[in-house]
Amino acid sequence: MRNLNEFTITDAVLDRVRQAPGARTRQISEALVRHLHAFTREVEPTQEEWGAGIDFLTRTGHKSDDKRQEFILLSDALGVSMLVDAINHRFPDGATETTVLGPFYMQAAPQLTLGSNISGKLEGKPLFVNGSVSTIDGAPVADATVDVWHADGEGFYDVQQIDQLGALAGRARFITGQDGRFHFWTVRPAAYPIPQDGPVGQMLDAQGRHPFRPAHVHFMIAAPGYETLITHVFADGDEYLDSDVVFGVKDSITSPYVEKPAGTAPDGTEMSNPYAWLHYNFRLKGK
Ligand code: BEZ
Ligand code: FE
Repeated sequence: MRNLNEFTITDAVLDRVRQAPGARTRQISEALVRHLHAFTREVEPTQEEWGAGIDFLTRTGHKSDDKRQEFILLSDALGVSMLVDAINHRFPDGATETTVLGPFYMQAAPQLTLGSNISGKLEGKPLFVNGSVSTIDGAPVADATVDVWHADGEGFYDVQQIDQLGALAGRARFITGQDGRFHFWTVRPAAYPIPQDGPVGQMLDAQGRHPFRPAHVHFMIAAPGYETLITHVFADGDEYLDSDVVFGVKDSITSPYVEKPAGTAPDGTEMSNPYAWLHYNFRLKGK
C-alpha cells in the first residue's frame, strides 16, 4: 500500500493489524489504532508537540523501576486505574466497593495479633480501628486476612521515611476471629500528595491540578472462597474527597474518624489523651 494520506492511512493501518492471529490481540490492536488516530486528528499536533509527547513518555519510563512506577501513577492520575477497577469489579449490591491499590502496598508487612499497635515510630494522633468482615448476607468470615497500610499524621508512608524510622510502620496483617472481627491501634493518617518529582507531577502542574489524596486507610481483605477486596476507608469531611487526584473516592467507603476525648477506648484501653475511632464493616463477594 502506497501514497497514503491523512484520509486513507487509518484504514491502511487497520487492515494491517487485522492480520493478527489472536482474536484478542486483533481487537486490542484495532481499538488502539482507531483511538490513537482519532486523538491525533482531533489534536492536530505540531511536530514539536509530538516530540514533547514522546519525550514525556520516555521520561515516564526512565522514572520507573522496581520501587517507583510512574506509568501506574500516570494511569491513576488520568482516571484509567479507577476505570479498569470499575470494569473488573461489577460487584453485587451489598459487597464493599473497591478502589485503587496504590504504590505503597508491601507483601513484607508483619502479621500481628488483634489489638496490636502498628504505628511504630510514625507521628500522629492515636487512632483505634475496628470492624468486621462478613459475607454480603452478613455472616461473619472467620480467618480472613486483613492487610492494612496508611500514611502518618503528616501524610508520609513508612517507605518514604524508612531511613529515619528504621523499620516498617503503619502496616500489618491481621487474621479475623471466629466472629469475623478485627481491631488494632495506629495513628490517624493525613491527606497527602502523590509523588510530584516526575513527569506526572509536571502533568498535574500543566493541567492546573492539585496532587492530593484525601486521608484514608488502605485495606486488602482475602479469604478462601471470596474475591479479594482491595479498598480504602476515607475520612469523612476531608477537604479532598471531591477532588481526589486519582478519582478513587466513593461514598460507601467514606466513614467518620470520630474524635474521642481521653477515657476508656472501645477495647478497654485507658487513654490519657484524645484519640480518633474508625469503625467499618467489610462485606466480601463470594467467588
Ligand atoms: C495511595 O493511596 O497510596 C496512592 C494511590 C494512587 C497513587 C498514589 C498513591
Ligand atoms: Fe494511600
